[in-house]
Amino acid sequence: MASNTTIRRADSTDAETIYRFICRLEGEDPTREEFDSIFLKNLEDPDCYYFIAEKNGQSVAFVGMQIQSVLHHTARIAEIIEMFVLPEHRGDGIGELLYWHTKDIAQERGCKFFEVACNNVRERALDFFSKMGFEKTHCKFTERL
Ligand SMILES: CC(C)(COP(=O)(O)OP(=O)(O)OC[C@H]1O[C@@H](n2cnc3c(N)ncnc32)[C@H](O)[C@@H]1OP(=O)(O)O)[C@@H](O)C(=O)NCCC(=O)NCCS
Repeated sequence: MASNTTIRRADSTDAETIYRFICRLEGEDPTREEFDSIFLKNLEDPDCYYFIAEKNGQSVAFVGMQIQSVLHHTARIAEIIEMFVLPEHRGDGIGELLYWHTKDIAQERGCKFFEVACNNVRERALDFFSKMGFEKTHCKFTERL
């Protein structure tokens, strides 16, 4: 269970761990240099949050969240950009812990909406986000450039 799981803010020493999580999440290996340059830049951004979940001292999951001010809401919104739990730790409540942790920050920061975009192929994750309380309200169109 998630009872002995702790959540902490990620820092530059977590680059390797989060890089490996992203490779598994996406099923492909981005260039490490490109990954590092984006990750280190985002760590400096006060609107960008990365959290690591640790169990018995081992990093088992992470979440990335971004806050932005959007004109059409004339307000700040928070979006979960990435979330990954190691397969052997899924179903233990760790995703839910990360959900509540990021949602609390979104509320503290005065965000009007909390969002997540999830690929339709991730059927299990879609079920998870629905269960957390997100409603399917938008269609996201993507074009590869
Ligand atoms: C989606 C994901 C983050 C969920 O994390 P998790 O730690 O396994 O989820 P939890 O154990 O916290 O589950 C919380 C609740 O959602 C439910 N749930 C979790 N996965 C579910 C699923 N596939 N279908 C239905 N319910 C699900 C759990 O049963 C639990 O409810 P309960 O407390 O009533 O039992 C995790 O499975 C994952 O990393 N998936 C692969 C990566 C991914 O697709 N990420 C999302 C892209 S942004």
